[in-house]
Amino acid sequence: PYIIAEPCVDVKDKACIEECPVDCIYEGGRMLYIHPDECVDCGACEPVCPVEAIFYEDDTPDQWSGYVNANVDFFNELGSPGGATKVGQVEYDPPFIKELPPMAS
Ligand code: F3S
Ligand code: F3S
Repeated sequence: PYIIAEPCVDVKDKACIEECPVDCIYEGGRMLYIHPDECVDCGACEPVCPVEAIFYEDDTPDQWSGYVNANVDFFNELGSPGGATKVGQVEYDPPFIKELPPMAS
């Protein structure tokens, strides 16, 4: 699947949500996360992110490799809801993301 990495933190542009045909991009406290099982690898979200936060998981830059697991761990409690719209924002981020300093410019 595709994943969302650190440039999304405190930015949350959400242009990606508009492009996803399966509504698998979920909103956490500080960033958004792609559901690893619901994503169908269409790739439509990747070019529209204005801060280039979205990567195919194997192409994730090394400094953000922890975000591959973050996009999995975010769903530990949520499971597979089958659509982000009905879930809405979840006030959760994996701990290393929650503890980042403020990132907004
Ligand atoms: Fe984040 Fe980019 Fe989407 S900033 S919300 S990944 S468009
Ligand atoms: Fe949706 Fe992007 Fe996957 S548009 S299906 S999250 S590659």
